[in-house]
Amino acid sequence: MSHDAELASQVEHANLDQPNIARMYDYHLGGSANFAIDRAVAEQALRLVPTERDYCWANRAFLGRAVRTLVIEHGIDQFLDLGSGVPTVGNVHEIAHQHDPNARVAYVDWEPVACHHARQLLGAHEQRVTVTEADVCEPETVLNAAGVAGLLDFARPIGVLAFGILDILPTTDGAGLVSRYRESCTSGSALALSNNAQLSRTDQEVAALRSLLADTSTPNLYLRTSEEVAALLPGYELLVPGVVPASLWRPDRSVTEEEARRGNVYGAVGILP
Ligand SMILES: C[S@@+](CC[C@H](N)C(=O)[O-])C[C@H]1O[C@@H](n2cnc3c(N)ncnc32)[C@H](O)[C@@H]1O
Repeated sequence: MSHDAELASQVEHANLDQPNIARMYDYHLGGSANFAIDRAVAEQALRLVPTERDYCWANRAFLGRAVRTLVIEHGIDQFLDLGSGVPTVGNVHEIAHQHDPNARVAYVDWEPVACHHARQLLGAHEQRVTVTEADVCEPETVLNAAGVAGLLDFARPIGVLAFGILDILPTTDGAGLVSRYRESCTSGSALALSNNAQLSRTDQEVAALRSLLADTSTPNLYLRTSEEVAALLPGYELLVPGVVPASLWRPDRSVTEEEARRGNVYGAVGILP
């Protein structure tokens, strides 16, 4: 049986007729939870926008540093990961558990292949991590889902993660959406997020990306400026260094401005006072 056929046979309602951002992102990061239709569009994206893989790695690495910072420096031991994607290098629960073995992580994504892989990775005995298949644009559904309400204690601080998701949702009112999650969070909670930007991409590259995404299950791409990203975190106190190209957010190694721009993604982390 081919890889694709085997993968399809494992996931009940995977949509194989349309390229999917979760699976394309997985392909760019070197994963195997993707189908020919995803790989073809991902390869085309790389041909038209050679920095596309830089985006994925910069975004993913920033996610890891943000989670580590929240656990170590802010004692946050519960995470709600919105649009968590296919499990790949540096999963939130793995990073959190390195520093706090009791940390709880609720993953939420609407892509069946992503959720299937996450559940497989966790196995039946993992009690501290859940996977919920849901649309993050329906906060009440997400917050009341068994995997979220049954795992996280909203009376204590929670780290809400929104990496690479607010820019591909049908709504451009990202602030309105995250505010509905913020209302459920107590003081000391965090919001960490990333958003696609135009830092080194040309106008032609942005147009090419938009046209490729138009055929996927998430046809939107809402690039934000650093001011627009800051506007997603009203009420939060931004951690230093504020809203910056994601690779420059507390980097573990020296990063040039040029390398940071190639990531084409802004990152920010805020804490609720
Ligand atoms: C670019 S990936 C980012 C994955 C991960 N957050 C990261 O930054 O490494 C975007 C993810 O958002 C998910 N997604 C997009 N729209 C969604 C929605 N309305 N509800 C839930 N998940 C969604 C996709 O399935 C995909 O897994």
